[in-house]
Amino acid sequence: MGFYSDRIVPHLIDVACGMSLTEPVRERVCAELHGHVVEIGFGSGLNVPFYPATVESVAAVEPADLGWKLARERLAASPIPVERSGLDGQSLPFPDNTFDTALSTWTMCTIPDVDAALREVRRVLKPGGTLHFVEHGLAPHEKVRRWQYRFEPIQKTVAGGCHLTRDIPTLVRAAGFELRDLDTFYEKGSPKIMGALAVGVTEPVAG
Ligand SMILES: C[S@@+](CC[C@H](N)C(=O)[O-])C[C@H]1O[C@@H](n2cnc3c(N)ncnc32)[C@H](O)[C@@H]1O
Repeated sequence: MGFYSDRIVPHLIDVACGMSLTEPVRERVCAELHGHVVEIGFGSGLNVPFYPATVESVAAVEPADLGWKLARERLAASPIPVERSGLDGQSLPFPDNTFDTALSTWTMCTIPDVDAALREVRRVLKPGGTLHFVEHGLAPHEKVRRWQYRFEPIQKTVAGGCHLTRDIPTLVRAAGFELRDLDTFYEKGSPKIMGALAVGVTEPVAG
């Protein structure tokens, strides 16, 4: 942690992730959330306006203090109780089988050990619980991938550790989830190297 990551990156994320082009996909990913929810990589609370009325509470997991501060107005406007409950998705401070649903938006690119975080989400979901996500990652086309690999070191440096080449559906499956729905597409209005999105609903494989 340092001045740039503590004081600048959360503002950059608030602006870049807060662009209006992300809103339709946020609404879509949040639509089926219900009950007690854990959101990993809460950031500045850009999903808060999209939590549906079926959500009873949200446990927000976010390491950046400034992200949490930038969420203040969105939190004040929400009727749903949201508590900052953890700092690291890789080690969640909750008992097994705690949550009905989990949410991750544009976060699996950044968590250093994303496999550990997914396994933690799996552990804290109740049986039948689901993880709802939108993530950017490895593009389907070789030409775009080549640019992603070239640009990734810069992206990691300027954007708080954000990777461009993570294969999100493969990572999710490897952590013991079954994909119930998966949609992959390039986000309109984003550069392709950053806009190869995977939107999905996934549940832990039994056993
Ligand atoms: C690109 S931002 C996305 C923020 C938010 N989910 C959104 O959609 O606007 C990635 C977020 O992951 C958070 N993050 C980084 N490492 C993390 C970790 N180990 N556990 C949980 N969140 C983490 C960052 O602080 C940042 O807020």
